[in-house]
Amino acid sequence: MSAVHTEFLSASNAAQLVARTGVVECLRLMADAIEADFARWQDFDKSARVGAHSEHGVIELMPVADATDYAFKYVNGHPSNARHGLPTVMAFGALADVATGVPRFVSELTLTTALRTAATSLMAARRLARSDSRSMALIGNGSQSEFQALAFVGLLGVRELRLFDVDTAASAKLLRNIGPALGEYGASAQICDSAEDAVRGADIVTTLTASKARATIVGAQMLAPGMHLNAVGGDCPGKTELAAAVLTNASVFVEYEPQTRVEGDLQQMPADFAVTEFWRVIQGLAPGRRADDEITVFDSVGFALEDYSALRTMRELGKQAGLLESIELIPALKDPKDLFGSLRLSARPVHLRRA
Ligand SMILES: NC(=O)c1ccc[n+]([C@@H]2O[C@H](COP(=O)([O-])OP(=O)(O)OC[C@H]3O[C@@H](n4cnc5c(N)ncnc54)[C@H](O)[C@@H]3O)[C@@H](O)[C@H]2O)c1
Repeated sequence: MSAVHTEFLSASNAAQLVARTGVVECLRLMADAIEADFARWQDFDKSARVGAHSEHGVIELMPVADATDYAFKYVNGHPSNARHGLPTVMAFGALADVATGVPRFVSELTLTTALRTAATSLMAARRLARSDSRSMALIGNGSQSEFQALAFVGLLGVRELRLFDVDTAASAKLLRNIGPALGEYGASAQICDSAEDAVRGADIVTTLTASKARATIVGAQMLAPGMHLNAVGGDCPGKTELAAAVLTNASVFVEYEPQTRVEGDLQQMPADFAVTEFWRVIQGLAPGRRADDEITVFDSVGFALEDYSALRTMRELGKQAGLLESIELIPALKDPKDLFGSLRLSARPVHLRRA
């Protein structure tokens, strides 16, 4: 009888792991891992995620696999969850062996999603933002925001953050959380009075709002030549952040086109509106930014391949740090055809009832 062990990274151990490793170091490792996996895009069996929509939000399943590893993530998006004392986005997921189907690693993915989303934004901005970009507007200062801020300050050279949230307490929380880290990089942050105010003079605009609506956080009148927009919060049918005219005026880059056409800000555009899948830029098949005055948009919705890379990164870090537990998900069988026989090993009696 061979016991099947599955490694497990709990939410509290993941928090400890990231605190010990350092958020910026985790972001760096994850951005490199995601980029390496985008560079072998053709190795993956890809599909758009499956969403279960309700008036409250969405619950999604995100699978992807290469020849050896299968990954999936369960993730929700419920913009009104704060009312219930819950985060908008919560997630968990697994890595399994393609050869046998054995689940090898199960993990929290709420914290990991914030890291991988910021790491993906960073990967895109490395090729799409102007290399002299120093200021970033950060609109929506909730759970994802500190990770985005640290990715762009710690790894892209941003030195000025211009914050806006309709909830001023969220912006104050962001400042409290990353104020000391900003100091270490010689960076600063200021809270602005409106999205327009935050965007004015910014080289990069990151939108991270949560509202189940066709919102217009950035309109075409707010654009300036050379701007890069990192649009993260428009990630579901009926949930957008950019005016259609913003996309018309920009070169638009996406993760996986069939998914972004339905879920991204791109959902507002005609089916033949031209976009570039970002893996093509990584593989040198398409240019990233072509000119200093070009406006670029990364229409981020979150793709399963990023979670595959993130799961593998956290598993490796967790292993090195001794923070993985072992859980029993799969029964250990003497005879692989005798599942029923495993009941005999149980201390509890088997109650049979007459029909
Ligand atoms: N693209 C991706 O891969 C990806 C990954 C994770 C989360 N997301 C999305 O990013 C968004 C942010 O996620 P979160 O976990 O930080 O959510 P959150 O609820 O913690 O924070 C969202 C913030 O947006 C603010 N907000 C709402 N409407 C606004 C407006 N009109 N102007 C300014 N601020 C506004 C809210 O007050 C809140 O503080 C969500 O929409 C989520 O679905 C996308």
